[in-house]
Amino acid sequence: TPKYKVPESFDMPDRQWPSRTLTDSPVWCSVDLRDGNQALPDPMTPDQKREYFKMLCDIGFKHIEVGFPSASQDDFDFFRGLIEEDRVPEDVFIMGLTQCRSHLIERTFEAFKGVKQGIVHAYIATSDLHMKQVFGMDRQDTIETAVAATRQIRELADAMPESDIRYEFSPEEFTDTDPEFCLELCKAVYDAWGKATPEKPLILNLPATVERRPPNHYADMIEWFCSRFPNRDRVQISLHSHNDQGMAVAATELALMAGADRVEGTLFGHGERTGNVDLVTVVGNLFSRGIETGLDFSNMEKVVESVERLTGMPVYYRQPYAGEYAFTAFSGSHQDAINKGMHRLDKASEIFGMRWKVPYLHIDPADLGRSFERLIRINSQSGKGGIAWVLEQEYGVHIPKAMQPELREEVQRYSEEVSRELSSEEVYKIFEEKFLRPE
Ligand code: KIV
Ligand code: ZN
Repeated sequence: TPKYKVPESFDMPDRQWPSRTLTDSPVWCSVDLRDGNQALPDPMTPDQKREYFKMLCDIGFKHIEVGFPSASQDDFDFFRGLIEEDRVPEDVFIMGLTQCRSHLIERTFEAFKGVKQGIVHAYIATSDLHMKQVFGMDRQDTIETAVAATRQIRELADAMPESDIRYEFSPEEFTDTDPEFCLELCKAVYDAWGKATPEKPLILNLPATVERRPPNHYADMIEWFCSRFPNRDRVQISLHSHNDQGMAVAATELALMAGADRVEGTLFGHGERTGNVDLVTVVGNLFSRGIETGLDFSNMEKVVESVERLTGMPVYYRQPYAGEYAFTAFSGSHQDAINKGMHRLDKASEIFGMRWKVPYLHIDPADLGRSFERLIRINSQSGKGGIAWVLEQEYGVHIPKAMQPELREEVQRYSEEVSRELSSEEVYKIFEEKFLRPE
């Protein structure tokens, strides 16, 4: 019996419901050290970036954007350090961003010298807004610039036969770009690269640079693009969603269902403005449906601790999968239901065909290294079941049913008196004083 599985549809005779379901994991790309880092009030130091890079490798990322080496000496030196000090695992590609400008591309390749596996990532803005208002360019200029950059990247990559250099191209502001024009541009880039194969595909990264549209609109654009791009097996369609409307996770999941192959994002959604898509949530969601993601978040507390320390930014209490309260039930009825569900897991397999089906907890916190002791917090709203559960779990004390209402009253009274949540030690103390040493 699987622990988790894709939710079954209810029996709906008149329609296919849901119309689509994700079954496979995409390729994951962390852009924490580039998009994430560039948006930190205090960007990470080289030592901090090295530690972050190692954590990303340990989690299992195989594509990691580590900086914009032509834009800053720090990023350039960081690239050189990773390569010269042999810090990049054999199966990891490090990626570097560049604008489509000749001297910047040359500098990027200097940073990549000696790399075993690298991805050169070129971008150019393709929305009319950007082309006209920011750069004073027209569509033809943009195509010519992107094609010239791609040819130069190909030449420089060919001159490094000992390295496996792949190419990623991003039409920046994809979601605000005329789709026909974007398709024409990307086809021209594909032809100019000229060496995409199914084994070494060209990565076409189609970003929602600013989340200007609802998730289904992004997905429709991705579907349209995927269905029209020739040589579909030689390109990897990549997503890169920002979170301006708070829907980057939904947009990413819908766009994956629409046919994309790869996802760029950051841990806990660090990134410009309201951030990039939060990969922890997307990965957790797929995991909760039984999809093998290839990423390991089994020590979530360590990941949270490291990210908070290295970025200087706290992870929100209610952050899915990672926040302090992600697996905490305060209310009595929830605590009671969780308690019952946890004791009847063997029945869940029988009834639901999955090993984990517990009220109010869509996944087992233990899969993320979270401990059961922290599941139930005790305050003035707690119920008798939750209180009994804490005492049983943490102190091995079984509270008979008849004794539970009285204990709850005592706990609630004390919690109201001190106007705060109680620790399990305090609950035990109340139990001890009331029932073990009554005066
Ligand atoms: O958001 C964006 O469009 C980017 C590009 C450089 C890919 O970060
Ligand atoms: Zn971005």
